[in-house]
Amino acid sequence: MNNLIEIKFRLNGKETKVKVKPALLLIDMLRDELKLKGTKPGCLEGECGACTVIIDGDAINSCMYLAINADGKEVTTIEGLGSQDNPLELVQEKMLEHGAVQCGFCSSGVIMTIKAFSDKMKASGKTPTREELKKSLEGNLCRCTGYVKIIDAAEAVYDDQPS
Ligand code: FES
Ligand code: FES
Repeated sequence: MNNLIEIKFRLNGKETKVKVKPALLLIDMLRDELKLKGTKPGCLEGECGACTVIIDGDAINSCMYLAINADGKEVTTIEGLGSQDNPLELVQEKMLEHGAVQCGFCSSGVIMTIKAFSDKMKASGKTPTREELKKSLEGNLCRCTGYVKIIDAAEAVYDDQPS
């Protein structure tokens, strides 16, 4: 029996159609079906944030999200931001400038969380406090950096924001 369901959504700006099993997780669709390996599998229990992607503007743990729920949505993964071939996003530049990456396993999730949060803040004309930035990153665990440089990078995203 064919129990695949076709879903259509925008992935990194492109209309995308995929046939998925009803119980397939978004992280598995991205990594295994679509070969986008930048979204990292860490705990697979919604605890570490390594698998964070942006769905309709919100940072979402893709290990806790069914692929079929992406139907009709706008999904952005780390591959949709800057790369060696495309200009870096501001958050990526700030992560580099502040030395906020060591082993890099958490980095794509951290970047997606900072991007979703800063897009919302900027859209509402707000500049978050350092405490608010820390809170926004509560769901992203990093074994290497001690967090200070990540928070510094997140704060620097607002450097050009009028106060
Ligand atoms: S892998 Fe999804 S939250 Fe850890
Ligand atoms: S840089 Fe290694 S886990 Fe964050």
